[in-house]
Amino acid sequence: MRRIARLRDRLGVAYGGDYNPEQWPEHVWDEDLALMREAGVSLVSVGIFSWASVEPRPGEYDFGWLDRVLDRLAAGGVAACLATMTASPPPWLTTLHPEMLTVRKDGRAITPGGRQHYCPSSPVYREHAVRLAERVATRYGGHPALALWHVGNEYGNVVPCHCDVSAAAFRRWLAARYGSVAGLNDAWSTRFWAQGYGAFEEVLPPRSPAPFANPAQELDYARFTSDELLACHLAEKEVLDRVTPDVPVTTNFPPSLRPVDQWTWAPHLDVVAYDAYPDPDDDDAVAKVALSYDVMRSLRDGQPWMLMEQAPGAVNWRPRNAAKPPGAMRLWSWQAVAHGADAVMFFQWRQSRGGAEKFHSAMVPHGGPSSRIFGEVRELGRELSAARTLAGARAPRADAALVLDWPSWWALEGPAHPSSEVRFLDAAWACHRPLHDASVACDVVRADGDLSAYRLVVVPNLYLTSPEAGRGLERYVEEGGTLVMGFFSGIVDPCDRVHLGGYPAPFRRMLGLRVEEFHPLPSGGTVPLSRGLGGVWSEEVCLEGAEAVELFAAGALAGRPAVTRHRFGRGTAWYLATRPDRTTMRHLFDRVREEAGVDPVLPGLPETVQARVRQTEDGPRYIVLNHGTEAAEVPLPTPMRDELTGTEPSGLLRLPARGVAVLRPA
Ligand code: GAL
Repeated sequence: MRRIARLRDRLGVAYGGDYNPEQWPEHVWDEDLALMREAGVSLVSVGIFSWASVEPRPGEYDFGWLDRVLDRLAAGGVAACLATMTASPPPWLTTLHPEMLTVRKDGRAITPGGRQHYCPSSPVYREHAVRLAERVATRYGGHPALALWHVGNEYGNVVPCHCDVSAAAFRRWLAARYGSVAGLNDAWSTRFWAQGYGAFEEVLPPRSPAPFANPAQELDYARFTSDELLACHLAEKEVLDRVTPDVPVTTNFPPSLRPVDQWTWAPHLDVVAYDAYPDPDDDDAVAKVALSYDVMRSLRDGQPWMLMEQAPGAVNWRPRNAAKPPGAMRLWSWQAVAHGADAVMFFQWRQSRGGAEKFHSAMVPHGGPSSRIFGEVRELGRELSAARTLAGARAPRADAALVLDWPSWWALEGPAHPSSEVRFLDAAWACHRPLHDASVACDVVRADGDLSAYRLVVVPNLYLTSPEAGRGLERYVEEGGTLVMGFFSGIVDPCDRVHLGGYPAPFRRMLGLRVEEFHPLPSGGTVPLSRGLGGVWSEEVCLEGAEAVELFAAGALAGRPAVTRHRFGRGTAWYLATRPDRTTMRHLFDRVREEAGVDPVLPGLPETVQARVRQTEDGPRYIVLNHGTEAAEVPLPTPMRDELTGTEPSGLLRLPARGVAVLRPA
């Protein structure tokens, strides 16, 4: 924690982006630094993809250019989040060791020419990566520019490797997990389809079995892949901790959240970092990314996190890449700060001239500093440097929490299920949205976490449940909590074997019901409910103590429960047997919240306005965001001062379209 306190004192709310000076002639670097200072940049990530530039031939190093870059940054007062440069192995390494290339599920190796094409289990990759990390740490550990280490890049945003080296590592991983082949056979239900193994040597990664892979094997492969990537990270981190014990270490989690089990990673990071790329063309982008931000804040129990990358404008990797409208970059940056970020960073500083990302926006666009984007970048830098008091300020613990469990997510999306359209993120977004839209703060918790501080716990989906997690959730309700659970939860154990005794066996008592049969809805189809519409799913619910709050109003299940409520112990458990439409969810959650006593951060906010709070040493700061394209009037319960404008709006704050205010009680 000392490491982080030092970082915060040095940087305030850090501001900057990925800086790739090796793509430019040196004379451009002087302009870079002048513009960074003009824009209030305090931190840049350097060297993420520089392996080939610092080690152009095996064991032959060229650090001269990087020395000059870092010296200039230090002289200009810009700190470096310095990469260990191991995210993308150089061509000489994959030429010498083609066996370290990622092999896809179908057995084809990825060819070099892109990036991050290494097998995480490869001893060759790990050995070379650790050696380079040690070199970099030793050379720059005492450099005045160095503020933070950046290891790898978006671990998990890679094709999972299925090569023979991975196969051998997977066998070792399985032997450690199950102890014996008999244990493995039991866990994987291998009596089915004659899959029984006689020895670990017979086990393979789930490459392309037909017609379906063993789902327990797929699930374990996802666990294994997450663990192998973490092992790569830890191998480098061990070097950094040893060489520079005072310098914090992080890695940036990829936007999609899914690939690695972040609960197992987070304890190893000094600070959580995240890359967010909300799609300006998606009307739901703001609400969706808010869930990711709540995850990031929660991973280390409310510790401020870093928005390590976002785009100043358009990205380049969607089929069609929308630009951010004027003001959106600023507003969305403040959204991250409102949800607990202590850093607002971009990909990237200067827009590349060549290469696959030349059409990705940057803080300094191709058009140079006279462009609108750079103007907005400069303005935001000014605002954030004035917001120093927010650095280190935690968000208070929320009253509501959402349960997220990675193995359950992976298992839910395994093969041969009642509907391939039941996706975890859709369920999570649908349940988070009514809280988000009502400006209700929401933490994210582990399924087996301590829930006792929360008035409301939302379980969008928990397909896979260990008996302990199941009992924990039950106890939470019994002891007075309010819980909302989505369909197809409590179905299987950690080995993807069905919990017998009627669905959802671990939660039947708590929910006061039994599910007889699943009726997934046709793609894009809906089913009328007593109020609103259901989507994605329906199922035959038999009440065993619960009351029906909404019914299916047509079809095979007409007249049967679609939403239920059950008093259990001193608490209440709600169940969603379908995915109600957004308006219906909002009504439902408003009622649930009212019963549970969970309030918005500020009362009476207009629909387009969001507020979140951070607790500084001298009191709360309400960050108020108008996501609408019209001005909005925000009633203020007590006199407040807007730290961005220095004004004291009395009673009513007028926020322009895409406006932001940082309010402190006056
Ligand atoms: C991220 C990646 C960056 C850059 C960016 C473009 O996923 O970490 O290096 O490629 O995407 O949006």
